[in-house]
This record gives sequence, C-alpha cells and structure tokens, in this order.
Amino acid sequence: MESQKTIKHIFQEYISKSTPIFKNREVLTSEFIPETIQHRNKEINTIASILAPSLKGGRPSNIFIYGLTGTGKTLVSKHITDELEKISKQGNYPIKVLYVNCKMKKISDTEYRLMAELCRLLGYELPATGLPTDYIYQTFFNALDSEKRIVIIILDEIDALVEKIGDEFLYNLTRINQELKNSKISIIGITNDLHFIEILDPRVKSSLREEEVLFFPYNATQLHDILKHRSYYAFYDNVLSDEVIPKCAALAAQEHGDARRALDLLRVAGEIAERMNDDKVTEKHVDLAQEKIDYDRVIESTKSLPKQTKVVLWSILELSNEKNDDIQTGEVYDIYQRKCKEIGLFPLTQRRISDLISELDMTGIINAKVTSLGRYGRTRVIMLNLNESVKEKVKAILNESLVI
Ligand SMILES: Nc1ncnc2c1ncn2[C@@H]1O[C@H](COP(=O)(O)OP(=O)(O)O)[C@@H](O)[C@H]1O
Ligand SMILES: [Mg+2]
Repeated sequence: MESQKTIKHIFQEYISKSTPIFKNREVLTSEFIPETIQHRNKEINTIASILAPSLKGGRPSNIFIYGLTGTGKTLVSKHITDELEKISKQGNYPIKVLYVNCKMKKISDTEYRLMAELCRLLGYELPATGLPTDYIYQTFFNALDSEKRIVIIILDEIDALVEKIGDEFLYNLTRINQELKNSKISIIGITNDLHFIEILDPRVKSSLREEEVLFFPYNATQLHDILKHRSYYAFYDNVLSDEVIPKCAALAAQEHGDARRALDLLRVAGEIAERMNDDKVTEKHVDLAQEKIDYDRVIESTKSLPKQTKVVLWSILELSNEKNDDIQTGEVYDIYQRKCKEIGLFPLTQRRISDLISELDMTGIINAKVTSLGRYGRTRVIMLNLNESVKEKVKAILNESLVI
C-alpha cells in the first residue's frame, strides 16, 4: 500500500509540476531525424552530385565515407538517399536503396546473414541459416536483376562487418555488376574508423574508394547551432539558462566534435533537472550529465569486455590499490596469471596481454603510455582512469563475472 501511494505521488507531482522542462524529449534522442541538417552543405553537395547520375539510369561511383563518430555521416547519407529514392519515383529510372547497419549482430555476424538481409531488403525472405552461400548469392543476384534499376547499398559501420567476415564479400559485391543485365549496384561504405581502409585488400580498397568523402569534426560554434535548433523543439521557452547550450557545445567539441555527445549532454541535463524538480536547466545539470554519461559509458564497456580482458582489468584494479599511476605490464601479468589459475581460465602469453592492455587503453578506462627504461628497453606504464565510485562499481561487475 505504502509503495502504491508513493508511485501515485510521483505521478501526480509530475503532472502538477508548474514548469515542465521538455516540450518534446524525443527530439534529442539519436533516433530522431532532424528535418534540416546544418553545416554539412559541402558534404551533402559532394555526395548528391556523385549519386545524381542514377536519376538517369547511370551507375554512380562507389563512395567511401569516413570520419569520427557523431560527425553526421549516417544522417547525411540517409537523408540524401531518401530524397534520391523519392525523386526517382517521379521519373523513369527506378532507384532502390538498401541500408544496412553492420553493427547489428543479427545482420553482420556472418556472410550468410548479411546476404540474407540484403535479399530481405529486396523482398526475398530466406531462412536464418542452412542454405549454401552460393544459393544465397544466386538469390541476391536474381533479386537484383529482376528489374531494371540502380540499387544503392549502404553498409554503415562497415568496419564491424569486415572485422567479422573479412573483405572477400566486398570483392564479390563490387564484381557483381559485370554480370548483371538489367540492374547495377553501387556501394556506399561508411566507417568511424579512420584507419579502416588501410587494412583492405588493394583490389577491394580501390573499388570501394572510387570516391571518398571525409567528415570533419564539428567545432563548438557548429555544435552550438545544431543544439540551438533542436532545443527550440525539445524544451519549453525560457527553460534553458543561457550558459547551457554553449557549455554542451564546448564539452562535445573537446571530445572530437561529436554531435551525438552534444545532444546526449543536453538531453541528460534536461532529464536531471526534471528529476531534481528544478524549473530551469543550468550549468550544474550539464556537469552532472557529463558525469552520468561517462559513468554509463565505463560501465557499459566494462560489461562488454571479453573475459580475458576482464581478467587483465581486474589485475590492474588490484594493483591500483597499492599505487595509482606506475603500474607495469610485468606486474599485471603476474597477477593476471594467478587470477586465471584461480578461476580456471587458460592464461595467454605476456605479449597478448600487452595487446589487451592497448585495447583497454582505447576504451579510456586506463591510460597506457610507453616509456623508455634506458638500456633496459621499453615498458608500458599503466594508469587507471576511474574515480573511486566508478572504480568500486567496475570492481563489482568484474568480480561478478570472474568466477569459476
Ligand atoms: N549537421 C547536423 N545537423 C543536425 N543534427 C546532426 C548533424 N550532424 C549530426 N547530427 C545528429 O547527431 C547525431 C549523430 O549523427 P550521426 O549521423 O549518427 O553521426 P555518425 O554517423 O557520423 O556517427 C544524430 O542524432 C544526428 O541526428
Ligand atoms: Mg553512424
């Protein structure tokens, strides 16, 4: 009974609150598609010009789009190809766009799944497993060629796909045009990984990169404009204090100009203000939002670490009880081996552990710097990058999953 009263109380308080914060919170979520895209005219013009020949039945060049996260690559690509598809409906040259987010597990675990997804997008449902790959390619080929048209395949976060299934499928896809009679395909590959292209087979590299477009990070002013525009739809009038948008923009600009981060900061700041029952969103809420987002990110990445890497992190945490910023790979390895024994895990070599430490460095949970030991060679000095409360939480997660 008591708890029911409280729930009722919370809801009533929410409804009767005199100054609600959000007019429409959805506008600040990553699913929301804004109707105007700011500060990307150059990129939009370039990509649109490359794709335009498809409106007269010509095969556009393949495009490789790259740039750091949150620079608008997905938004811009979807926006242009949506328009293209719409305009093609008014003319005589059909265009079909197939968008695949390669980060989605069910789609890009295997070549089979990817091809099945492409078939599905063309209207051919196939069973989730079991058919020979040749058969799937044949189905895809027939589906493509069943109509006279240009098919544009967007492989977003293509690096995730290549990491799992190699780049052979890309070779196959780029060659398929030579055999198609009615249709032609063109590929748009998108990645956040600036070094991705270097790992591709040279033949694949040159065909995927017929054209390439780099998305630069946004600067603080540009992020400011993006936030300003969204906030108009997201918040009630006069709810945001003047310093809020500049602060979110500045923080996200420091973080490599990531528009997603900027929008997240603004949204979470609003949520926190709402939960604290404050009438205005202020700088204080942005600081809290920043803390919360960082916290969530560390927790999420800790949970998703592979088991071996978890043991490595666990060992670093153990060492950090004694010293904070001078942990060496050799020491980590000793504790790592002991822990593996304890939980019945086969220990990897010290060299592999060194690689795993580099991977942890990339998550931002630790800092690992290579330093010289003079004539004794080089070593890596590891520093834990977590404050006490986060550290405790990370430890708890690791302890929970590192058992026999
Ligand atoms: N120029 C822009 N104008 C408005 N919103 C943008 C702009 N660029 C990015 N966004 C928004 O920022 C978020 C991240 O953009 P996204 O296209 O997903 O980045 P990327 O694919 O490069 O990681 C999305 O919510 C998107 O709507
Ligand atoms: Mg993207």
